[in-house]
Order: sequence, then C-alpha cells, then structure tokens
Amino acid sequence: MAELQGLLRTHNCSELRATHDGQEVVLCGWVNKYRDLGALHFIDIRDKYGLTQLGFEDFAGDLSILKQCALESVIMAKGLVRKRPSDAQNKNMETGEVEVQVKELEVLSRADVDNMPFFPHGQIEATEDQRLKYRYLDLRTTKLQETLKLRSKANQIVRNFLTNEGFVEVETPILYKSTPEGARDYIVPSRVHPGEVYALPQSPQTLKQLLMIGNTDKYFQICRCFRDEDLRADRQPEFTQIDIEVSFATQEYMKNLVEKMLGELFKKDNFSMPSMSYDEAMTRYGCDKPDIRFGLEHMTVTDLFKGSDFKVFSSVIEANGLIKAIFVPESVATFSRKNTDAFVDVVKPYGGKGVAFFKVTSEGRSAGVSKFITDEIYAELEKLNTGEEKGNGTWLFFADADSEVSHASADALRRHLGKEYGLQKEGHHFLWVYDFPLLEYSPEEKRFVAKHHPFTSPKIDEIENFLNADPEGQHEILKNMAAEAYDVVCNGYELGGGSVRIHRQDLQTKMFQVLGFSEEEAKKQFGFFIEALKYGTPPHAGIAFGMDRTIMMLAGTENIRDVIAFPKTTSATDLMASSPSSPAEDQTKDLHFQWRKK
Ligand code: AMO
Repeated sequence: MAELQGLLRTHNCSELRATHDGQEVVLCGWVNKYRDLGALHFIDIRDKYGLTQLGFEDFAGDLSILKQCALESVIMAKGLVRKRPSDAQNKNMETGEVEVQVKELEVLSRADVDNMPFFPHGQIEATEDQRLKYRYLDLRTTKLQETLKLRSKANQIVRNFLTNEGFVEVETPILYKSTPEGARDYIVPSRVHPGEVYALPQSPQTLKQLLMIGNTDKYFQICRCFRDEDLRADRQPEFTQIDIEVSFATQEYMKNLVEKMLGELFKKDNFSMPSMSYDEAMTRYGCDKPDIRFGLEHMTVTDLFKGSDFKVFSSVIEANGLIKAIFVPESVATFSRKNTDAFVDVVKPYGGKGVAFFKVTSEGRSAGVSKFITDEIYAELEKLNTGEEKGNGTWLFFADADSEVSHASADALRRHLGKEYGLQKEGHHFLWVYDFPLLEYSPEEKRFVAKHHPFTSPKIDEIENFLNADPEGQHEILKNMAAEAYDVVCNGYELGGGSVRIHRQDLQTKMFQVLGFSEEEAKKQFGFFIEALKYGTPPHAGIAFGMDRTIMMLAGTENIRDVIAFPKTTSATDLMASSPSSPAEDQTKDLHFQWRKK
C-alpha cells in the first residue's frame, strides 16, 4: 500500500531491494549498530519494519557526526541505494542485497547511551521490573510490536465479525455505579457532590441488560473493566472484555455465536467445541476450567476406602470428605522420592496436607501407602482407571474432609504434571462448560453469593422452586440449584463467561433477597435496574470474553503483561509512571475527603 505524502522518510527500513538500485531515498530510524573499520563506516539503521545498512563512502559532510550516532539515537539518512556486490550481500537481512550510500545525515535525537537502562535489541539483560519501568524501550522489541499488531488484528476481526452478524457497538459509561462481579470497586470521589463517589465498572453488566430493555437487540463493546482484586499471571486490575448481549437468545444461540467468532479468531473452519457440565468437569478434573490437552483424569475413590486401616483416609471418610486418585503410567513418569516429597508443595497452596501414593512395577505394589492397598482395592482401582494405560505406574491420592480441597489439590498436581512432563498437546483446545451452580455459600459473609453474578437465571425448570425457596431454611435446595450459566475454557484458562439473564422482576427481586440484600439495600444499589425490568423486558443472554486472555492464547504466552502495552505489576502499580501516587493537596480539598498520608 502506498504511503500518504508527508512522512520524513521515503521508505521504511525493510523495503529496499536490488530493484531500487540508483534511487535516492530517505530513511529514518534508530542506530542499531555502528562499525568503524577505519576507512569504512557502517550503520545499521532500524525501525519497526526492519534494518538497512548505511555506508558512508559518498558522504559529503564531516564524518565526525558519526560520533553522535550512539546506539538507539534516532537519525535521518538521505542517499542513494546501491546494489551490493554478490560477495557482500547479507542473506540474513531482508534488505541484504543493498545498502544506502549516505550523502546527508541528521541526528534527530541523540540517545544517552551511557545511561540506557537496557538495549532493546540483541541479548536483553534486564529484569521484568526494569522492562516495565522503561516500557517504551521494551516496546521497541519485535516481540512486543508483533503482539500489539496481533491484538489490533484481533480487535478488527471481532468488530468485523460481530458487525456482520448484526451487532451494534455501544459505548457505556466508565464513571458509573457499583456493578457486582465479585471484586472490590475502584471509586472516584465527586467534586460536585461532596461525600459521593462514582464506581468504575467491573463490567458493563447492568448497562448491557438495560440496552436490551432499550431495544438494542444485539450489543457488543470492546470495553475496559476495572476490578480491585488479587492479581495473578492472568489477571490485571484493568483489563479488556469483548462484551456481548443478545435479546431473545438461548444458550444454544450463544454457543453458536461464540463458535463462529472463535473460528474466525483462531482460524478454524466450521469450528465447534465440546461441551461438559460443571459437575462432570469437577469430577474428572477437579476444576471448572479443565486443561483437556492431556489425560491423567481424576477418579473418585472415596467408597473404596470405607473401613480402611489407613487413618488418614478413614478419618476423611468419617468427616464426609472426598478421596480422589490420579494414575500416572510408567510411560509418562516414574517418580523419585524427591519428586513425591515435592508434591506436597504443589498442593499446599490449595489447602492440601499431602499426596499419598503407591507404585506398581513388574515386582508388584510398593512404597508409600501400598500396605493399605489390598488386592480387592487394587482390582477396583484398575476398574476405575479409564486412562489409555493400566498396570505399571504410580497411583496418587488426594484426601480431605473438605471436598473442595481434594478437588483443588488433585487439579493443581495434574496441571503440574502436565507441564513438568510436557503432556499438553499442541494447539488450542476449547471447552464449553455449562450448568454452573447458581449460588455458593460464603462462610465468611454467612450468606449466599452468586456463582456468576446476581443477574444470572436459574435453570428454567428450577425457577419455580427458586421462587418458593426459603433462603434461611432451605440451604441444601438452594446450594444444589444450577444456573443457565456457561464458560468458555481454552487450554485450562477461563477465556469467557456468560449466562441467560433473569428478565422477570419478581425473580430478580427474589435473587437479591436470597443473596441477603435487605429490601432497602437492593433498592439503593439496584433500584433503577429492578424498576427497568417492570416496563417490558425481552428475555436475553450474553457473554464476555477476556480480550487479554484471548490474546495470551493467540500469542502463546502465560503472562498477561506480555499482551498489554502498559501493564501493571502484580501489586497493581505502574512502575513507569509511578502510579498510584499521592494526590495533590488541592485535589483532596476539591474532592472533599480527608487524606491520611502514608
Ligand atoms: P466474568 O467476571 O466471568 O463475567 O468476566 C468475563 C471474562 O473476563 C476476563 N477477566 C479478566 N481478565 C483479566 N484480568 C481480570 N482481572 C479479569 N477478570 C475477568 C476473564 C473472564 O472469563 N459481566 C460478566 C459477563 C456476562 O455475564 O456476560 C462478566 O464480567 O476472561
């Protein structure tokens, strides 16, 4: 594509070829390398697109200017393209057939080479903190520029796809009101209304539902969300969602839409993904976002150990707990004592106290808890083992009075083994997980919380039971109710989540009641929304994808900071701008709040 007129350069640094021989050109870019061979001088000039060699045989000016051309300085060179003799051509360089014989050279910006925190090209010796502090230098790397390009392309694919499907992109406010997605809000004090605050949206959830009530029918937005929560390798305090909502849609429509969109993004023709219920995912993988790139599935073995002499297992059974097992065939790994000892560190963060095991070899059963494994128990274990291989290997056990701990420990160790032993298949392996529980009981808050969010509908056939349930007396009934909620999982990451929404006012009111909101609280926080439901609301459903996580998958990285131009650290700081920072005194006065200095 021809460039518009008005750039300082005529070509970029990857464009020139032998066909340009003899042309006068102007190149602009950074000094990537300078070689002084006495009589001959060469500079490799670099821009986003590539490198070109500059020679100075025809240079009319004073060559001492080259002394100002420190690495990473920005220069502009005007000269003639010259085809290099064949023995001087550089096959490793796109522009290696030519060089530019410079006639005029201008140093546009001299770099302070002695104080450069690091050099972005070649072998980079810098910690991640240094790279984040000097993010603009790190951004000069091809890797980060390629990621920005990938992200821009993905935005474009999503916009084109959804627009073609009849969706309308609508922007929603950032200065808003608390939206319940389970994290803390970031709040912004109001100058005009003393003592009052806006909350930054954790997602545009209520707004997109209001758009459905307002006849928008098919909405999308590539939007920023803000959540004050504990950060991890796949979480940022501000992140981007592909947010979608559709009137009159069922879960089936949402899955079809998502498959078509993912097919375009991940370049898979006629893409469809397998479905798995939440219960099945928990049973087979111990989590709701299973990594299905490899086997080592969980087995539930609690019943096999009823009456066992092994105190750890029998006490777990007495406490109504859960025992899960994983079989690791010999062909995958044989574990040393050091390996099995280290397993405890993998499960500890999830509350696990240890991993019991025994081995099966051609000589029989040995090590660990083998003396508690009778022939009958072993025969049952073999029957339960649906993996590709049976027989020789190691059996691992996860037992805890709290079944969540057994699930999470077995999940953590399975993931650890998958990574450690390179078991994960290539490519992107998607899964649609459905029938999530509607509610979770929070022992800290002594109340139910919504598993997805409070606007998610119970399964259609549960609605009447839900409306009639007593939140005080019918804990078990409520705990076992499923929701019209679904997640999209890829390679063990939750990429997106959504649900069919509540569109009946009585149901929404009941939901807030079950979640322990007093009538007054519900009215204060969501009164406008509950009111909106009463003036004619189409049934609707939606989903939101984490854009950052989607790009992580496309770029093949496990660090969310790699796919964001200006990310924050895991302690939610921007090292480059030193943000957050103390407000100026005038600001706090204007905003009517007392500031306690650190
Ligand atoms: P949910 O809270 O599941 O649903 O978020 C949807 C997706 O957003 C991504 N995500 C994040 N990405 C990076 N950093 C974070 N801190 C972070 N938190 C969430 C995840 C997640 O799957 N309003 C609902 C959606 C709906 O019901 O339509 C919502 O926000 O990839």
